[in-house]
Amino acid sequence: MSAQATILQVENIATRFRTQDGVVHAVNGISFELKEGELLGVVGESGSGKSVTMMSLLKLLPMPPAEIVSGKANFEGQDLIPLNTNQLRKIRGGKIGFIFQDPMTSLNPVLTIGYQLGEPMREHLGMSRREARKRSAELLELVGIPMAENRLNDFPHQFSGGMRQRVMIAIALACDPKVLIADEPTTALDVTIQAQILDIVKRLRKELGMAIIWITHDLGVVAGLADRVAVMYGGFIVEEAPVDELYANPKHPYTQGLLKTLPNLKGERSKRLESIIGQPPDLLGKPESCPFAPRCTQTLERCLKENPSLINRGNNHKVACWWNHES
Ligand SMILES: Nc1ncnc2c1ncn2[C@@H]1O[C@H](COP(=O)(O)OP(=O)(O)OP(=O)(O)O)[C@@H](O)[C@H]1O
Ligand SMILES: [Mg+2]
Repeated sequence: MSAQATILQVENIATRFRTQDGVVHAVNGISFELKEGELLGVVGESGSGKSVTMMSLLKLLPMPPAEIVSGKANFEGQDLIPLNTNQLRKIRGGKIGFIFQDPMTSLNPVLTIGYQLGEPMREHLGMSRREARKRSAELLELVGIPMAENRLNDFPHQFSGGMRQRVMIAIALACDPKVLIADEPTTALDVTIQAQILDIVKRLRKELGMAIIWITHDLGVVAGLADRVAVMYGGFIVEEAPVDELYANPKHPYTQGLLKTLPNLKGERSKRLESIIGQPPDLLGKPESCPFAPRCTQTLERCLKENPSLINRGNNHKVACWWNHES
């Protein structure tokens, strides 16, 4: 894609949780940017901080125990981080749409689908009840729900899991967002439904032209979808590059390991990330060494003493690894 304006600039976000067992260092200083119309894929194994990073931007975490200890998130010239809930409500579901991992907890079981779709349009776009209803039906059609008008009075439990996910997409798109944050469900849906959802997102992206952050466990999905990919590990971005560059020339041993577990990028079968040997990092300690060092096959002495920062090695390819810093 050609050079576009930056729509979201995230700098040094760090989020912790105070728990009975101690402080969980979930996100440890993450920076990234999103260009207009771009699709950024975010991959990383379970617990790597993908959801907490994005939820920090919109303050969708329970605080306490969560605490955003540093960072900025510039969206259209405004830093989101200092905003209070009321101010954020004007942006959430409006200019920034989001789809969460679990559609069951995100839809309100006692409100009709029509209400849940129409409400953000009435609030953010000032539509009348009638206008919102008409647009709601259009949106349901857009995401492939048949007989949409007849479904507006139905409640979430009257929809299948895949249909609920489509409804979630429709809600996220209701106000024509500039940015869509989609946290892909990893267990709730079967592969066929995920594929359908992906097709919808690809199509809508072309039609609506918003920028998207797509969170997934699945490197195969990212290969077919993203312009750029950020790989997360232990609450850090450890590598980030344009998608073709990342797949052709992975620099971080973690990414290299991930790609080795992937049988065929274009194939039907794509593996999940859990297949790398070793335990996920302990987030209770303050991260002072490379988080991947205990699982890395190429550990240097320096890796155990100092955490490498994310450095641009050319071609917009950034990596946080002492091997790459020193070579
Ligand atoms: N409310 C909470 N209290 C304590 N720790 C939490 C809380 N929410 C998240 N965490 C911790 O923060 C870390 C990052 O979690 P996060 O949900 O961002 O992971 P993820 O990359 O989205 O994983 P998944 O792929 O499974 O969705 C994890 O160690 C998790 O246990
Ligand atoms: Mg998550």
